[in-house]
Amino acid sequence: MLSNSLIELDRAHLIHPVASYRGHEKLGVRVLKSAKGATVTDMTGHQMIDGFAGLWCVNAGYGHESIVEAAAKQMRELPYATGYFSLGSEPAIRLASELADRAPGDLNHIYFTLGGSDAVDSTVRFIRYYYHSLGTPEKDQFISLEQGYHGSSTVGAGLTALPVFHAGFGLPFDWQHKIPSHYAYRNPAGTDPQAIIASSVAVLKAKIEEIGAEHVAAFYVEPIQGSGGVLVPPTGWLKAMHEVCKQYDVLLVADEVITGFGRTGPLFACSDDDVVPDFMTTAKGLTSGYVPMGAVFMSDKVYNTIADGAGAAAIGHGYTYSAHPVSAAVGLEVLRLYENGLLENGVKAGARLMAGLESLKDHPLVGDVRGRGMLAAIELVTDKQKKTPLPAAADPSRRIFDRAWDNGLVIRAFGNGVLGYAPPLCCTESDIDAIIERTRLTLDQTLNDPDVRSAMA
Ligand SMILES: Cc1ncc(COP(=O)(O)O)c(C=O)c1O
Repeated sequence: MLSNSLIELDRAHLIHPVASYRGHEKLGVRVLKSAKGATVTDMTGHQMIDGFAGLWCVNAGYGHESIVEAAAKQMRELPYATGYFSLGSEPAIRLASELADRAPGDLNHIYFTLGGSDAVDSTVRFIRYYYHSLGTPEKDQFISLEQGYHGSSTVGAGLTALPVFHAGFGLPFDWQHKIPSHYAYRNPAGTDPQAIIASSVAVLKAKIEEIGAEHVAAFYVEPIQGSGGVLVPPTGWLKAMHEVCKQYDVLLVADEVITGFGRTGPLFACSDDDVVPDFMTTAKGLTSGYVPMGAVFMSDKVYNTIADGAGAAAIGHGYTYSAHPVSAAVGLEVLRLYENGLLENGVKAGARLMAGLESLKDHPLVGDVRGRGMLAAIELVTDKQKKTPLPAAADPSRRIFDRAWDNGLVIRAFGNGVLGYAPPLCCTESDIDAIIERTRLTLDQTLNDPDVRSAMA
């Protein structure tokens, strides 16, 4: 098939996620053809380092034959088994057990989903059921952070705090509340970590008291905010917020869909913060994007309350593809790869990535560099003193993305001039160095754009 006809077929039939449909029709799809390690190749043969691991999900990198084998073997043996009617499959049971072994604290119970959005959606259902079981169904208000992302389900998109997920969708619901992000680079409390923590603690307490603690069910948080622009809280921030939750008897949901599975170093970012939440949501790196799967981790306390509350009655939550055996077989193999060198390599590569991005700080466009492990961002400004964002006309999400692409690098270019990095953990030193070199070239070219140059301080 000619690539032109593929482009036409895409234009006519395939709806793309979070896209301007008309804009996409004009632009046309770019078809990716193959990948190996950290390198992806498009239909034209153009090769790029995938600095974003697909959609921050291909943590293991591309082309692992052992993952392909694990999936094929499971497909041959038993391609599907339902979890309904008390049935099950070996890989799903083993994966649940392996995950529980490695999860922080008493997060011993795993509910498998198809991805992150339905993992978040499932937690909302479980949390409501939990409070019904306790006899306090009036605890039904949910709090999350501005700039937060918690998926695209009808309910989860209301916990998400990105305007494009709300406008036109009748969201958020009136039981979904937001408090400001820690966003250290632009926090009105200043840049001092302790001041940022104190300010976030105060706003969370104030919000809970405004709603009434007897009505607040849960607080949702990403250990590092991803889609809001890779916003890294100060050390101790998550722990301090957890203390507030405990004080007011509010459940903490750590949304680790991006941060899980080595993205920040350890298997789960919560361990960096020494926090054991009531729920953890994961997806992406769980199967490294080779097949779809997500997982809700539930604490003993929540599980037992729900189980005892329901007694002999069925808890009416389930999906046909929950605990899918092929996804679980992939999850087991991916976990083995993480623990046989990939996590370790990710830590080394992450340190090199952060050092490389730090070295870009002298570039006239770079206002901020932030990250942890293999999750990082730089924020571009035209005035470092005033932290002035790039002019909207510079259309960073298109122009800089395209330019990096042409330079052989895939990055996430956010609309506000933040460039996001989440490369596969398998990156070699030369992959990381290429990411930095190609970023510098992209920044130099952008600085030469007449509209950017004239906006510079
Ligand atoms: C923190 C977080 N939660 C939930 C989701 C939704 O996951 P999915 O796109 O797999 O539905 C994402 C996706 O990027 C995410 O970053």
